Amino acid sequence: MVRPSPELLVASTKAELPSVLCNWIALMASKAIDGERNKFTIALSGGSLPKFLSSLSDAFQKLNVDPKWDRWYVFLADERCVPIDDDDSNLKSIHDNFLNDAEVKIPQNQIYGINQELVGKLMKEEDDNGDSKTILDDIASHYEKKMKNVLDDDVLDLAVLGFGPDGHTCSLFPDHALLDDKSGRWVLSIADSPKPPPRRITLSLPFLNDLTRNVIVCGAGASKFPIIDAVFEKNFDYSKQETGFQSFHPKMVSPPPYPCSMVVPKDSLTWIVDSDAMVGEK
Ligand code: 6PG
Repeated sequence: MVRPSPELLVASTKAELPSVLCNWIALMASKAIDGERNKFTIALSGGSLPKFLSSLSDAFQKLNVDPKWDRWYVFLADERCVPIDDDDSNLKSIHDNFLNDAEVKIPQNQIYGINQELVGKLMKEEDDNGDSKTILDDIASHYEKKMKNVLDDDVLDLAVLGFGPDGHTCSLFPDHALLDDKSGRWVLSIADSPKPPPRRITLSLPFLNDLTRNVIVCGAGASKFPIIDAVFEKNFDYSKQETGFQSFHPKMVSPPPYPCSMVVPKDSLTWIVDSDAMVGEK
């Protein structure tokens, strides 16, 4: 399979990043719904990413495009295995920052969280014993089944991922055994995430690379600079602009130094960052 070359979009400031990201998502949604499949399947990460999604409905308005929210199906690229009302829940954060916007009319039954009954059982297991591992695995396989029921041809349209200052993406951490998983599972569980909370589920690397059409990797701030510096070759010149965004087509360092740069999907790979992530602390 020929893999796409990445495009790197640099917003001049962190405040301008959401409109760049939301425009991109809006274009991909319209392409999937109007042009190709009459349906848009999207997976979203947590961390700082949900805050960047709050202007998604504005993006559609500016483009003068109908979002057709009833054709959207929303999954989690990774989730912390905590109750839905816990502040650590990625879905809660996605609701608070995006889905609860009165303009966003995605049917509730097309928004897919993890099984709360299993989470309840997990909460009762204080130790990471065999039982809690089994429950975590059940949460992951239950989630995978939900995805399989919805995805046409078993392919996701778009995953929008964050990346951490250690180079992780989803809940795929550097040097972790999950990176070598060859089980063919789409959704994996992790009991020892270095970023708290430790118990999580995550899309697998093979799913992101072979069963996802488009990926956006997005992050802002100087703490992300060492990762940007390490994952892209220096075959382009960057100097900060006052407003708007710039587009580059850098090569990626091979072999990929971090999990976030191991993700190269089928059709398109877009990294969206701000200028602080390009230059670091100055
Ligand atoms: C999580 C997230 C995770 C996140 C990155 C980046 O559950 O922690 O889903 O994958 O996207 O950690 O987070 P920050 O942008 O907050 O650094």
